[in-house]
Amino acid sequence: MTITSQDELEALRRIGRIVATVLRDMGKALEPGMTTLELDAIGRKGLEAHGARSAPELDYNFPGATCISVGNASGCEVAHGVPGARVIKAGDLVNIDVSAELGGFYGDTGASFAVPPVRPHITRLCRDGKRAMWEGIGAVRSDARLADIGERIERFADKGGYTLIRNLASHGVGRSLHEEPDSIATWRDRSERRRMHDGLVFTIEPFLSLGATYADETDDGWTLIADPAAPTVQYEHSLVVTKSGPVILTMA
Ligand code: CO
Ligand code: CO
Repeated sequence: MTITSQDELEALRRIGRIVATVLRDMGKALEPGMTTLELDAIGRKGLEAHGARSAPELDYNFPGATCISVGNASGCEVAHGVPGARVIKAGDLVNIDVSAELGGFYGDTGASFAVPPVRPHITRLCRDGKRAMWEGIGAVRSDARLADIGERIERFADKGGYTLIRNLASHGVGRSLHEEPDSIATWRDRSERRRMHDGLVFTIEPFLSLGATYADETDDGWTLIADPAAPTVQYEHSLVVTKSGPVILTMA
C-alpha cells in the first residue's frame, strides 16, 4: 500500500510494534527441548494479547500462528515451516517469522536464532544476515530504484562469500500480507525498472546462505528447504519510504 495519512502510519506502527514484540518474546523463550508448536503457542498468545490476528492463518489458512523453520546439519528449512511436534535441539538454527493484522493493517517481521552451542561460522552468518538486511534498507528513499536494494545486498553477499536464495522475494505489505509491489528481489535483478515513492510500504527480507541458492517445496505443501542444503538465515523488517529514507515499522 501507499500511505496517505498520519492515521495510516500510526496503524502500521501499531501492528509493526506488535509483531516485533512477539518475535522478540519468542526468541527469548526459545530453548532446546521445546517443540515448535510450544514456541508457536507463545506467539499466538502474544498476538491475542494485543488483539492481533495471525496473517498467514487469516490470508492463507496456514496451519500455525507463526512460521517456524528449523535447520541443522542434515538440512535447513528456510521459510514457512509449520509448527508441530518437532523438538528444538542444541545447535539448531531456528527462523521465526511473525506477521499479523490489526484493524485491517498488516505487519511482517522475521529473524533467525541460533540455539547454543553456536559454531563460529553460524555466528558470522547470523551477524551478516542482519547486515545484509540493513544494506538493503540503506537503499530506501523516495525516487530511488527498487533494484538498488538487491544490488546492494548481492554486493554485500559476494564480498562475504555468501549465496542468496533467489526465489524468495520481498513484497508490498499493509492492507494484506502480500500485495503490490510484488516480487522485490534481494539479489541483482537487471529487469527491475520500478522506483520507490513516498509512502510506499514493503518488506526487505534477504535470505543469506552458506551455499543455497533456491528454496524448494516439500511434501507438507508449506515448508521450504534450502537447495543445496546449507545453513540459511532470514531477517525481515516492514518499512515505509520517505524522502529522507526509510521508516522502520517493525521495531519492538
Ligand atoms: Co515474514
Ligand atoms: Co515477508
